[in-house]
Amino acid sequence: MTPNRKILLVNGANLHLLGKREPHIYGSTTLDDIVGRLKNTAKKYNVDILHIQSNHEGELVDKIGELGLLAPPHEQFDAIIINPAGFTHTSVILRDALTATGKPFIEVHLSNIHAREPFRTHSYFSDKAVGVICGLGDKGYDFALDYFVTHLYQDKT
Ligand code: DQA
Repeated sequence: MTPNRKILLVNGANLHLLGKREPHIYGSTTLDDIVGRLKNTAKKYNVDILHIQSNHEGELVDKIGELGLLAPPHEQFDAIIINPAGFTHTSVILRDALTATGKPFIEVHLSNIHAREPFRTHSYFSDKAVGVICGLGDKGYDFALDYFVTHLYQDKT
């Protein structure tokens, strides 16, 4: 059966460096590993994961808008899992792009942003998110996917 269920996975700036970047904070798992694992899990539930990563705020805004509002309905996604990375603490335009889609999203951070520098405690996303997962390392992405699989598609399985 062709999956018609799509979840958009968005990773912000510097997350392409996972595995090499400050592993004592972000762990040693690479972004490819995380995305591959999520895609495999999602497949079991007949869900496609569309992944985008960029270090450029405007590029993420463009892609979210295209996929969320301009793509034909069957190509659009149902929900978003996002680690906005540094954009978490700075980006009104990325927040606006997400809310413009009208889709539910979960905010994920590998590190516990509340146990670090004070500027990291503020997020432009959390008040609009279905939920926020932080401090659980890359498992946070799996938990977010699990939530959507069990809640979003619950009545359609
Ligand atoms: C991060 C936390 C952010 O403060 C930081 O800028 C990142 C990664 C995390 O996953 O822990 O780049 O989002």
